[in-house]
Amino acid sequence: MVRSLNWGLLALLALSHSIPALALSSASPILAPEVGPDCAQGFKHDGKITGTNVTVAGVPTYYSKPAKSTTGPKKVILFFADIYSPFYINNQLLQDYFASEGFHVLGIDYFFGDPIQAHDGEPGFNQTAWINKSRAQADESLPKWTEAVKKQYGADAKFAAVGYCFGGPYVLEISATDNVVAGAFAHPSGVTEDHFNKLTKPLLLSTAELDAAFPVASRNRALEILATNKAKYHAQLFSGVGHGFATRADLSDENAVWAKDQSAKTVVEWFKRFTT
Ligand SMILES: *[C@@H]1O[C@H](CO)[C@@H](O)[C@H](O)[C@H]1NC(C)=O
Ligand SMILES: *[C@@H]1O[C@H](CO)[C@@H](O)[C@H](O)[C@H]1NC(C)=O
Ligand SMILES: *[C@@H]1O[C@H](CO)[C@@H](O)[C@H](O)[C@H]1NC(C)=O
Repeated sequence: MVRSLNWGLLALLALSHSIPALALSSASPILAPEVGPDCAQGFKHDGKITGTNVTVAGVPTYYSKPAKSTTGPKKVILFFADIYSPFYINNQLLQDYFASEGFHVLGIDYFFGDPIQAHDGEPGFNQTAWINKSRAQADESLPKWTEAVKKQYGADAKFAAVGYCFGGPYVLEISATDNVVAGAFAHPSGVTEDHFNKLTKPLLLSTAELDAAFPVASRNRALEILATNKAKYHAQLFSGVGHGFATRADLSDENAVWAKDQSAKTVVEWFKRFTT
């Protein structure tokens, strides 16, 4: 799979795309490269969490349930975390917020207790190898985890998926199936044109002006594909913020806080639209 290739090969693929005469591969053009240095930048948040630890199909999972009992079919959000994992406080608070809006939220820990911050300051840490290992774990665990969650909530429930950075491609992949009714991502890593071409479900793109990993040119290309395919989508673009804005905002920066909050609110509105 393209997204598990190493940086050198990605650069080669990118080059082959910009110089068609040198086409070295028939792989789909890359719109956001694999997780890089930008994905481990940002600010840690603070707060009281309301969710719990559960295990689903053998995979550690953060679960946050709606505060008040809701009527009608259950609404479930599958949360695909950035490289800090769904157990990182920022991501827990975000999942709790979605739950407070009436969703059952399940965050799969495809890092199996080994998120990026476990390697902070580790001498000789090989991020490429860690990403490769994590992608392999996610590829292996996501299908059985999704199946177990779907079975647990039953046929009447409505499922949607949101993903950040590392979790972005999984949103696009599941939004090409009938396992969800809608998808949403912010600052994705490791996505190609094919990911957008294959979509069959509505997609929210929450994007940042200064995101070097998913720059405005990539966003525009993605939107062009979605429009050509007559897909249902909504895109938002926030000025003055970059990669990680939706999960690791600087809380002392008014613009960054506004973008983070508005991104989360839009995810909620987007999912309410398709799950009620
Ligand atoms: C839940 O799991 C996370 C990640 O493994 C761990 O840090 C945390 O202590 C666990 N919390 C509880 C209440 O067991
Ligand atoms: C890091 O891991 C990758 C993938 O396993 C490997 O190709 C590369 O040689 C490693 N780099 C170093 C400096 O060990
Ligand atoms: C990537 O991970 C897979 C599965 O763990 C392994 O078989 C493969 O050798 C790894 N590749 C690199 C370049 O590390």
